[in-house]
Parts: sequence; C-alpha cells; structure tokens
Amino acid sequence: MSGKRILSGMQPSGQLHLGNYHGALKNWVTMQSSLDCFFFIADLHSLTTLYQDPQRIKKYSFEVAVDWLSSGLDPEKCTLFVQSAIPEHAELHLILSMMVPVPWLERNPTYKEKQDEVKNIDMSSYGFLGYPVLQTADIVLYKANAVPVGIDQVPHLELSREIIRRFNKLYKKKVFIEPEAEISAVPKLNGIDGRKMSKSYNNAIFLSDSEKNITKKVMSMLTDPSRGRRTDPGDPDVCNLFPMHKIYSPVEMQKEIISACKKAEIGCGDCKQKLADNLLKSMLPKMEKRKDIAAKPKEVYEILRAGTEKARGVAQATLSEAKTAMKII
Ligand code: TRP
Ligand code: SF4
Repeated sequence: MSGKRILSGMQPSGQLHLGNYHGALKNWVTMQSSLDCFFFIADLHSLTTLYQDPQRIKKYSFEVAVDWLSSGLDPEKCTLFVQSAIPEHAELHLILSMMVPVPWLERNPTYKEKQDEVKNIDMSSYGFLGYPVLQTADIVLYKANAVPVGIDQVPHLELSREIIRRFNKLYKKKVFIEPEAEISAVPKLNGIDGRKMSKSYNNAIFLSDSEKNITKKVMSMLTDPSRGRRTDPGDPDVCNLFPMHKIYSPVEMQKEIISACKKAEIGCGDCKQKLADNLLKSMLPKMEKRKDIAAKPKEVYEILRAGTEKARGVAQATLSEAKTAMKII
C-alpha cells in the first residue's frame, strides 16, 4: 500500500444510482486496493437539505452502506465510517468557521446554484453557507493527500485549500495538508428522460432496483427523437441511451448498433432490449450480493462501527495537534 491517503464522502440522501456508481463508487473500489482509503457517510452534510426530515438520514445511511458493500468496497481494504459518529468533525468545523471570511463562502458557486435550484427547501441556512467548511474539516482531520470528487466539487476543494493555508499561516505550523482534487473521468450518464441522472429528477436506475424494474426503465428510455418511426434513421451520438451501451455492451455490438441505427436496420425497442440484457448481466452478481448484505444489518452496522472507531483515532490525533498549534489546550 502506498503512503497516499485518500478521503471521500457521500451524502446519504437516498439510494445510489448508476450515475453515483460510475461517477464515484467504481473509482473508489479500484483505489482501495492500492491506496490508504477512508470513505465516509456525510450524514451531517445531508442535514443541510434534510433538516425538516432528519429521521430519513438513518435509513438512507444504511442503504448507502449496503450499496457500497455490494458494489465492492471491502472493509478489509478501506476504512468506512459515519461522519456524525466522530464529534471531531463538528468541533473542527466550529474552530475553522471562526477564521473563514463569509465572502469566501458567498462566492462559492454551488451555494448560489443550489439556492436557485432547490425551491421546496429553504436553503438560506447558516449551516448550508458553511458546507465547504465542514467539508474542509472532514478532509484535514485525516490528512488526506487526495480527494476523489466530481468536477462540481472542485470549487469546494479550492476553498478547502485556502482555508488550510490560512490556518497553517495563522498558527505557524503545517498541521493540515493541502489535498489535491482527484477528478475521475466520468462517463456521461443520462437518466431515462435524457437529463442528467439524478434522484431528484425521478429518472434514475438505482443499484437497488429489481431486475424487472431495470428492464422496464431501460425500455422507457428516451432515444434519438428523430427516430419517430421505425424506418427513420437515427444517430447513436445524439441518442440518450447509447452512452450506456458504451459502458455495458461489447465493442462489436456497439459497432453493429451504430451502423444499423444509422440505416434504420434496428428498431429502438430491440436496441434497448440488448442494453437491458447487458446491463443486467453486469448488475446481477451485485444485486445478489446486495440481497445477502441487506439481510444482515447487524454485520453492516458492525463494519461501520469498526471503521468509525479506527477513523476516530486519526481524527482525535489531528484535532489535538490543531488545538496545540493554536495553544488552546
Ligand atoms: N460534498 C460531497 C458531495 O456531496 C460530500 C462530501 C462531504 C465530501 N465531505 C466531503 C466529499 C469530503 C469529499 C471530501 O458529494
Ligand atoms: Fe438509440 Fe439504439 Fe434507437 Fe439508435 S437504435 S436511436 S442507438 S436506441
């Protein structure tokens, strides 16, 4: 194992879907074999949107853990933990918040975007403004060198680095490490309706969906709109479905589809059926594993408990180093 420490988190805001898998999880599973990985359930962060419904967080956290384990995260190879079970996250967040200028946070693009995007929840909270400060605490507590995130998280990481530089300069000690953002090459995966796959758009294929449901969802996917009739030629490059063929279907089959679609020799129904078959072939082993794991909640909680205990030791050591540098203990 190399000395490089990786840390990343996911909010428990519901079941994970194929977009989450290809955008993050798959990459985590690869990294756990060669790097020192810490992955956590960011349940405190999810309070920014679920504060009116906090009882849902526990259920979602369990589901995320089950999705992680059935996708191949292995507690023998990486440390899996729950943010809220480690109070050092909250304490360091508070300390950091004292030295972060509010304008730095107001400039954060996701702060503004979410305010415009989310209409049913009041997102004007103090806690939501401080979202990247909590995220900084998450990262520095584990002295992570790299943080695998999606491209949308890059401004947060940049802000973290600024906060870290400010802390280290103020207290004249390099307590915290500036992490690199590790942006994974994410294949573009759209939902059933052609928009980005997202739980809130109701267009996602979930890792926890049944075989029947997955087939049904694939069969209802939007295709190239110019194929109004079976005899109209289409173009896989503009088809919402084709990116999934690129992931799940053999290259030979992809080539056949490209040519047949352009000549209207294949109907979209047949093309979707091929995709559903290939997608299911890839998902079935994980779906089986998921059933086994979900049937043993005690084992899931034990994995999280053990991971949390290990992570907490690291977090406590870093927090006390930070407080020593500040001369407040
Ligand atoms: N903001 C991240 C997301 O929504 C989740 C997260 C919280 C995170 N803390 C983190 C990611 C620390 C990486 C590192 O996807
Ligand atoms: Fe898309 Fe396949 Fe229909 Fe072509 S045949 S438009 S690739 S679903």
